[in-house]
Amino acid sequence: MNEKKTARLELDGKVIELPVVYGPENEVGIDISSLRSQTGFITLDPGYANTGACKSGITFVDGEKGILRYRGYPIEEMAQRSSFIETAMLLIFGELPTREERTNFRSLLRENELLHEDMLHHFEGFPPNGHPMAIMSAALNALGSYHTDLLNIQDTSDMRLAAAKIISKVRTIAAFAYKKSIGEPAVYPDPNLSYCRNFLHMMFSIPYRMYDPPQEVVRALTLFLIVHADHEQNCSCSTVRMVGSTEANLFASVSAGVCALWGRLHGGANSAVMDMLDYLHREKLSVKDYLEQVKQKKFRLMGFGHRVYKNFDPRARVLKRAAHDLLDTLGLQDDLLDIAQELEEAALNDDFFIERKLYPNVDFYSGLILRALGIPVPMYPVMFAIGRMPGWIAHWYEESQDPNMKIHRPRQIYMGSKERKYVPMHKR
Ligand code: CMC
Repeated sequence: MNEKKTARLELDGKVIELPVVYGPENEVGIDISSLRSQTGFITLDPGYANTGACKSGITFVDGEKGILRYRGYPIEEMAQRSSFIETAMLLIFGELPTREERTNFRSLLRENELLHEDMLHHFEGFPPNGHPMAIMSAALNALGSYHTDLLNIQDTSDMRLAAAKIISKVRTIAAFAYKKSIGEPAVYPDPNLSYCRNFLHMMFSIPYRMYDPPQEVVRALTLFLIVHADHEQNCSCSTVRMVGSTEANLFASVSAGVCALWGRLHGGANSAVMDMLDYLHREKLSVKDYLEQVKQKKFRLMGFGHRVYKNFDPRARVLKRAAHDLLDTLGLQDDLLDIAQELEEAALNDDFFIERKLYPNVDFYSGLILRALGIPVPMYPVMFAIGRMPGWIAHWYEESQDPNMKIHRPRQIYMGSKERKYVPMHKR
């Protein structure tokens, strides 16, 4: 590493030197924070494809090599060996917890799994077909009003409590939103159950019949949540950091993250993939014909392509294997999995996708797992949000601890009208 290197930039005959920043994984960036004050120029980077907004120690992605690590630990190993709660603690607090730390945090989650009873009125306020992402975002923001002591986090103990409340209650919110949408009574959390088992209980138990899923189902959900837990500066994470940069509270910031995640190009892609597979199946459309239309740019192949990965998304590999394993153990056969595999194979051998380095991303196979778990399609992005919650919290916390943190405030190149005189109504 050479921290002292600089980049030389020549502008209007003037040469300025800008510091080069190196990361431990040989990532390099040019620190342009003094560019405008030195030259009057700003940089223009629509979509921030080349812009580093912060230094972060949480998650490392190498898009060319298809590598993803949480705090240095490879995603494949985390998916195989860790639990969701351990992963969350690693992301938020920086290290794998000791047994005692994990036990204490689990107790905190258990103590905080209920919602304030008044919050149930918020669910009643939504129409029956209200989207669960809208409910989730609203409920998370509302949650802050029930925990006003945590709107201004003072120390690590406040942070641990706020994180536990959000991670625990978000699954209650999600399950209540689902129950509301199908007209069933809310099922309260059971403190004797593990994080994932408890969520499945709230989703699928009814007052007179307890849902007791097989261990493989619980493990598949755990794995799903682990691989979604963080992905550095993606759109929703950047949203959380942007909102947090104003010193807005954690509840408001993660609520904004849910809204950013909702879109089809981001966390909404998992439900869009399922709609696409279902459409191909229902209409008996051939993969070849469908891909022809994608290549004519009538629409995108959902679950394919990524801003950072120009190689296999390692999460897609993990989830593809998990989808197969789950269906095998449950003795299920899913035509949509066959169509997905056919699509993947055809796309990976097609010049259009090869030239653009488009590979399956995390959303391509994740829906097939959720489908096997019995989760309905509108809940798919909600499941993504439950998984991503530790990542958002970790980034919000990291930013709040950063002594160099500034309010996020990009600039623009103004392209509108030059100054003109106001035109009175009768002259327009
Ligand atoms: N299907 C067909 N063509 C595509 C696709 C796709 N899924 N993705 C990119 N392209 C083409 C695009 O048309 C463009 O072609 P050309 O150079 O001829 O104009 C080229 O590839 C580059 O596309 P881009 O839009 O500049 O790439 P981007 O980095 O801005 O977009 C993306 C990344 C994820 C938004 C995009 O790949 C996409 O829309 N994928 C489908 C939606 C999806 O699966 N999203 C989930 C992303 S992963 C999880 C997450 O973020 O939540």
